[in-house]
Amino acid sequence: MGNRLENRVAVVTGSSSGNGRAIALALAREGAAVVCSDVKKSAREGGYEGDIQTDTDDVIRNEGGRAEYLDCDVTKASDVRAVIDRAVSAFGRLDIMVNNAGVFTDLHTIVDETEEQYDFTMAVNAKGVWLGCKFAIAQMLKQEDTGGGETSRGKIINIASIGGLVGLAAEPAYCASKGAVVNLTRQLAVDYAPERINVNAICPGFLATAMVRPFLDDPELNKTLHDLSPWPHLGTAEDVGKLALYLASDDAEMVTGSMQVLDGGYTAG
Ligand SMILES: NC(=O)c1ccc[n+]([C@@H]2O[C@H](COP(=O)([O-])OP(=O)(O)OC[C@H]3O[C@@H](n4cnc5c(N)ncnc54)[C@H](O)[C@@H]3O)[C@@H](O)[C@H]2O)c1
Repeated sequence: MGNRLENRVAVVTGSSSGNGRAIALALAREGAAVVCSDVKKSAREGGYEGDIQTDTDDVIRNEGGRAEYLDCDVTKASDVRAVIDRAVSAFGRLDIMVNNAGVFTDLHTIVDETEEQYDFTMAVNAKGVWLGCKFAIAQMLKQEDTGGGETSRGKIINIASIGGLVGLAAEPAYCASKGAVVNLTRQLAVDYAPERINVNAICPGFLATAMVRPFLDDPELNKTLHDLSPWPHLGTAEDVGKLALYLASDDAEMVTGSMQVLDGGYTAG
């Protein structure tokens, strides 16, 4: 356990599995109190977590950290507002908002994609992040920083994707939704830099989580992903956790409006 985030309070959406879980654990292990939130408290089946049977908030408390859990469907404004309110009522403030919850339906062209798939993907991935930013920033504007009025008074970390930066084959709604997250991040960084609120996004490539399990279990798709990645192996949710920790820390004071690509060079070529 470290102390880089001592006295800080974080909310993580979609924290029961994969990237959200790894982010929540990384923040808590550096001293942040974390409000974990998801549509269900237990992890998705098919994930790669070694301790998948223990819920994220329980792992944090078992390790001596501070955590709460609240059901929160990020497509519902009242749920998102409630999770921010819980951070304030339980821990006094909100320093770090991680808008991580996201969905991917399956691979198909736009011709075969249904309107329901598009609406569902946009509701969770794009509107969910918009709601998280909206209510988190409203709270951050009500509070001062922990450093005497000169340092950052809030950090927003949006989990986008390389699908928000380039076109990924057969992922139309997903790429549209992540493109929305990327440019919302830039827009909010401009509006809230004068208020000392950092707004950044992480754009992971393909990582081993339950979301990507169907790709990795398919030998042909698995080979394609490895061939497209210059780095000898794919990244992990823990890599995303480490990057989120950096963005949440004092070390990233001047970092805002940035897209942090974590893809082993996939989009560099
Ligand atoms: N795994 C990857 O390769 C990869 C790559 C780029 C970006 N991402 C992004 O990372 C984020 C997390 O993905 P993951 O791979 O950990 O997926 P995952 O499916 O393993 O976990 C997602 C979590 O979000 C929760 N969730 C789904 N809908 C929700 C909703 N409406 N409200 C609240 N929670 C909800 C799920 O219950 C689950 O616990 C997503 O935004 C995803 O798009 C993942």
